[in-house]
Amino acid sequence: MDAGKLGARVAIVTGAAHGIGRAIALRFAADGAIVAVVDIDMEGAQTVVGEITAGGGEAVAYDADVTDSEQVGVMVDAVLDRFEKIDILVNNAGGGAGLLGKTAPFKDQTEDVWRWVVDLNLHGTMICTHAVLEQMIERRYGKIINFGSIAGVSGLPNWAVYSAAKGAIIAFTKTLAMELGEFGINVNCISPGAILTRPTTRDWTRGTWLQRGGEPAEVAAMASFLASDEAGYITGVNYLVDGGRTLGPLR
Ligand SMILES: NC(=O)c1ccc[n+]([C@@H]2O[C@H](COP(=O)([O-])OP(=O)(O)OC[C@H]3O[C@@H](n4cnc5c(N)ncnc54)[C@H](O)[C@@H]3O)[C@@H](O)[C@H]2O)c1
Repeated sequence: MDAGKLGARVAIVTGAAHGIGRAIALRFAADGAIVAVVDIDMEGAQTVVGEITAGGGEAVAYDADVTDSEQVGVMVDAVLDRFEKIDILVNNAGGGAGLLGKTAPFKDQTEDVWRWVVDLNLHGTMICTHAVLEQMIERRYGKIINFGSIAGVSGLPNWAVYSAAKGAIIAFTKTLAMELGEFGINVNCISPGAILTRPTTRDWTRGTWLQRGGEPAEVAAMASFLASDEAGYITGVNYLVDGGRTLGPLR
């Protein structure tokens, strides 16, 4: 399967066992890419690899925690050993204190939790990016796609640290685009709104002008475009995929 718009490209997608990352892995494979499905949940990662290979695509699961530079280094070396290059990096792994069941206003938040959130989102993005840069610069080719959030653009009550980390990722994206442009590397960011990645009782239509939550595949469509050469003249941009959520209050 290499005839698509990502034909023969090698892509690392972090946090690809579930949610948006899984949708990106499936979409990239359908577009012809070879996908490194990176996650801390190997059972989930293997399931995604199974889905991709059943559809005629190529993917391999890698066990790496994005906050651990040693594990990320081993994973990147393994991908390079096997496929000889990395064309695309999607820094999708991330999330807020809610993953620990500890969402709270900042005045009640504890330092261990806020360090965990910054580590997962910001340091995880920096660690994975740093690990792929040398070979991308050597080959003068690369597409890096980071994950922000509407929280990093507009703020979100009870998510102050997550908002800060995502805002930092958006700023990181812009500066990196400036530093890497001369090497033919595009760096962009996607900031989703309310995406239906897990069962929830929340009312996703609230505050969203399109009056519905987004599908992971709708975020993956943007990632596929940014990873392709069709987006060759786009760099340093933060794309909102949020159903209009950041436009302002509903009437
Ligand atoms: N879902 C939304 O509504 C939404 C909104 C805005 C931004 N985002 C961002 O989009 C990205 C994906 O979100 P999602 O909702 O699909 O998340 P998710 O929780 O559904 O999936 C995240 C995946 O990352 C993996 N993961 C967690 N910690 C990891 C680590 N340290 N190393 C490697 N893998 C790890 C998990 O095992 C899981 O497979 C995140 O960066 C998130 O902050 C999501």
